[in-house]
Amino acid sequence: MADKKSIRIGILGFGTVGQGVWKHLTQDKAALERRLGVKLVLARASVSDLKKKRAVKLPKSKLTADSFAIVDDPSIDIVCELIGGTTLARELTLRALANGKTVVTANKALLCEHGEELFEAARKEGVHYFFEASVAGGIPIIKTLREGLIANRFPLIYGILNGTTNYMLTRMEREGISYEDVLGEARRLGYVEADEALDLDGVDAAHKAVILAYLAHGKWVSLNDMFVEGIRKITAQDVEYARQLGYKIKLLAVIQRDFDKEALSVRLHPALIKKSELMAQVDMVFNGVSLTGDVVGTTLLVGRGAGQDATASAVISDIADAVYAIQGGPAPAISEEDAEVYDALGAGLRLAKPQDIASAYYLRLRVKDQKGVLAKVARVFADAGLSVATMIQHEDPGSNSAVLIFTTHLSNEAAAAKAVAKLENLDAVLETPFLLRIFNPPPM
Ligand code: NDP
Ligand code: HSE
Repeated sequence: MADKKSIRIGILGFGTVGQGVWKHLTQDKAALERRLGVKLVLARASVSDLKKKRAVKLPKSKLTADSFAIVDDPSIDIVCELIGGTTLARELTLRALANGKTVVTANKALLCEHGEELFEAARKEGVHYFFEASVAGGIPIIKTLREGLIANRFPLIYGILNGTTNYMLTRMEREGISYEDVLGEARRLGYVEADEALDLDGVDAAHKAVILAYLAHGKWVSLNDMFVEGIRKITAQDVEYARQLGYKIKLLAVIQRDFDKEALSVRLHPALIKKSELMAQVDMVFNGVSLTGDVVGTTLLVGRGAGQDATASAVISDIADAVYAIQGGPAPAISEEDAEVYDALGAGLRLAKPQDIASAYYLRLRVKDQKGVLAKVARVFADAGLSVATMIQHEDPGSNSAVLIFTTHLSNEAAAAKAVAKLENLDAVLETPFLLRIFNPPPM
């Protein structure tokens, strides 16, 4: 068992999160050191541009543009990878692990794409790779899932995992403003990632869903095998129609496992959810994760899913675990290096087929305002096996067209895709049909 008097920490990336970690580790140093029983030394941080002005000031000697100097520094015990991206971050992480360092990350993209390789590398070197901040920012979801709820198997985990899009949908819902206007506002506030597709096309939230699915079910799911849809096609009218029907629209990650059929579905898409659901009340930049365990029932966690302080809180929680592990203390009950545990969780598990994925649907159609159109549309629904629950018609006399809003009873992804493909080919249908899922979680 190591008995170090001090633990030296190197930070790769001194942007939003890196500076937050440094700031809080400095401000709260004495309290943390008391709790951990060890001195914490912030050794160095790396950046790409040494000249950039930063809110958190460091002595020149502590800042470097050479991240490898940190991962190769034998005096450093813990490396926090807070650069982001999947190329340099991967290389640095592998090198730090190979050098016997414990690595802490907030990088969900890296985990999603290379988690298997990185956990294997940590396992091989007998060190830990911690990642609490990679999902839902300040919400301690990783600890909850693999430690607090260790007694459970999870038929359903779902939630709001992206703060930017939740902010946009909330403002659209509350103020009736357009997608373009609210996007402009989100950009001005600095919420949207530099690569906007990560937020708007659901990729960021899908990365997080993949990580949760792995932790709960021991299977890495590729984004190519998931439904991943963002919020770009949602109009202020959709939000209003949903409101009239008693729903809100949220960008939801849904991870469902049928333990009888051993089928797993991991998907990320906007969905209508009843206004009365607690999850529907998770608004603005907040995230929410609902975990249904076979022992505990349903647990809902809500909190700040992004931002400097919330994310730093999660990174520092990992640093604390890293210190315990380095000192030979209790490591997480199940850690990412426990390959056997995760292999067993995922043994025999297959991905659910579209016909296995049950959902009700909302469908927006713009059609010619003519006799017989409704009958043709109804025929397509019937042929595809979709049963209509409600229909609202909004006339648009100036354009001789009408917007039809349908909701359906419970059906499945295969039937919905078939209906959309057929509707698209009808002469009377003037725009690509727009389909949203209706997500009805089981009662808590
Ligand atoms: P930022 O863009 O604010 O910071 C990235 C940092 O990395 C910058 O300091 C940048 O340097 C540095 N950097 C970039 N390239 C290099 C390089 N080649 N060598 C050395 N340093 C480099 O990102 P965030 O802090 O927002 O995000 C960091 C990680 O945390 C990402 O993986 C992100 O997904 C994740 N995350 C972020 C959250 C958030 O709310 N921001 C929430 C949860 C996770 P320079 O400053 O000189 O440009
Ligand atoms: N772009 C992400 C979000 C940052 O909006 O939630 C946190 O991961």
